[in-house]
Amino acid sequence: MNDFFVIINMVILMYNANLIKEDLKKTMSEKRFQHSLLVAQEAKKLAKKYNYDEQEAYLAGLVHDVAKEFNETQIKQYKDKYAIKNENTKTIHADIGSIVAKERYNFTNEMCQAIKKHTTGASEMTLLDKIILIADKIGRSNLTEEGLKLKKLAYENLDLALLKYLENLKDKLQKNNLDIDKSTLHLINTLKKENKLN
Ligand SMILES: [Fe+2]
Ligand SMILES: [Fe+2]
Repeated sequence: MNDFFVIINMVILMYNANLIKEDLKKTMSEKRFQHSLLVAQEAKKLAKKYNYDEQEAYLAGLVHDVAKEFNETQIKQYKDKYAIKNENTKTIHADIGSIVAKERYNFTNEMCQAIKKHTTGASEMTLLDKIILIADKIGRSNLTEEGLKLKKLAYENLDLALLKYLENLKDKLQKNNLDIDKSTLHLINTLKKENKLN
């Protein structure tokens, strides 16, 4: 791409980001909107650190929770229309959010997949998938001590940060006798193998 098209592309993406922000501000609570902005900023910074397209990461971060505050009727409509099988009320917004990102904002498949995987992870995670999942956990204004440590680790080693987050999640779920998603367990094993931690 020559310089002219690079600049035009940047202007279009910036314009899109502003339109999306206006749209989100109208359709979600202020708290959720502020979280979305923080996640977008962290996703952009992580993309810069790990050499991913910063604007794509920013937009995926911005939209990751677009369906989080959907009401029961909206959720049912999406479940019926797209035959979504997920019955978990905590994670279904990721499935629906990925569809909204395509329908409403025409995001790339990679960006939609990252939104879909931001709650449980998946056995196969791209760099963008990892960036969005971690940005979601560290893109918060009230980070605990644990959260701050995770944030520091995210900028040192993204895989280890992801592993740390997932193992903590596994422990918390086990302590509360709650099921852990199979893809999350698979991802923990994959990350351990890839980072030679077994
Ligand atoms: Fe979410
Ligand atoms: Fe979120």
